[in-house]
Amino acid sequence: MRLAHISDLHILDLHGVTAKRFVSRRVFGGANLLLRRAGAHKIETVERLIEDLLREEPDHILVSGDLSNLALDSEFERAFHLLKLLGDRSRLSVVPGNHDYYTAGAIKARRFEKYFHPYMFERFSDLDPWPYPFVKDLGPIAIVGVNSACQTVPPFAYGMISERQYTNLEAALTAIPAGKLKGVLMHHALHRMPGRKEYTDRLIGRDRFLNTLFKHKVDVVFYGHDHAGRISELRRDGHSLRLICCGSSTRSGDTEDACGRYRIIHLEDGAIRAIDTKVYDPSDRAFHRVF
Ligand SMILES: [Fe+2]
Ligand SMILES: [Fe+2]
Repeated sequence: MRLAHISDLHILDLHGVTAKRFVSRRVFGGANLLLRRAGAHKIETVERLIEDLLREEPDHILVSGDLSNLALDSEFERAFHLLKLLGDRSRLSVVPGNHDYYTAGAIKARRFEKYFHPYMFERFSDLDPWPYPFVKDLGPIAIVGVNSACQTVPPFAYGMISERQYTNLEAALTAIPAGKLKGVLMHHALHRMPGRKEYTDRLIGRDRFLNTLFKHKVDVVFYGHDHAGRISELRRDGHSLRLICCGSSTRSGDTEDACGRYRIIHLEDGAIRAIDTKVYDPSDRAFHRVF
């Protein structure tokens, strides 16, 4: 089985957004953020990413949040129509990132869930305030989709797991049959991030969350948020937990390290056998495997 892992698409679309609504958006958000992101995350890279994924034909695609910049309807609409090209719930799983919960209004309206619930929940009702985490049995691996997003005020972009979600998470992990790999899909990073990011962008209560993962012998966590990407491993009492940070799949830069990337994870005989990384090369506008 092959899983693809993409993240932090940051799709920009201001279609239908009035100037009045735009300037009334959060103080530190708005223009500066959009001007920076419009250059750093190009829609063309998203389109090349979709094409590359269609060529690779993975069995399932994991999307670890930050589909948008300001959690606007226009951004979600565009992201939804692009992701739809990749398949339905059986082929794709998504979780929200901090940018998908950018405003109190978007959270209250459950805007992210209204667009993307078909990729997360079998049934979704406006009346259920605690739908997370969701679980998908993909055969060799069960994926548990955790919501770590909450509203923050820049420069903060930390994440949190609610008490209610911890209760549901314990139940979900307990119910996964033995012999299946246990995977968690979430947005916020579980490794220590460089510099002030460790302070502004961390998952609050990371140690408690990791204790829960080790208690249930989770094998792998797929996440984003740190746009640079990184693969690491934690060991405790003989159990190994793989941490796969995708990095942003759409960012552009002058060096290979600064360009968009995604992962292809090969599963065989109940274990992760290999992880490929494909990086976007702006010179030929294509994703290539790096070694
Ligand atoms: Fe991001
Ligand atoms: Fe993020």
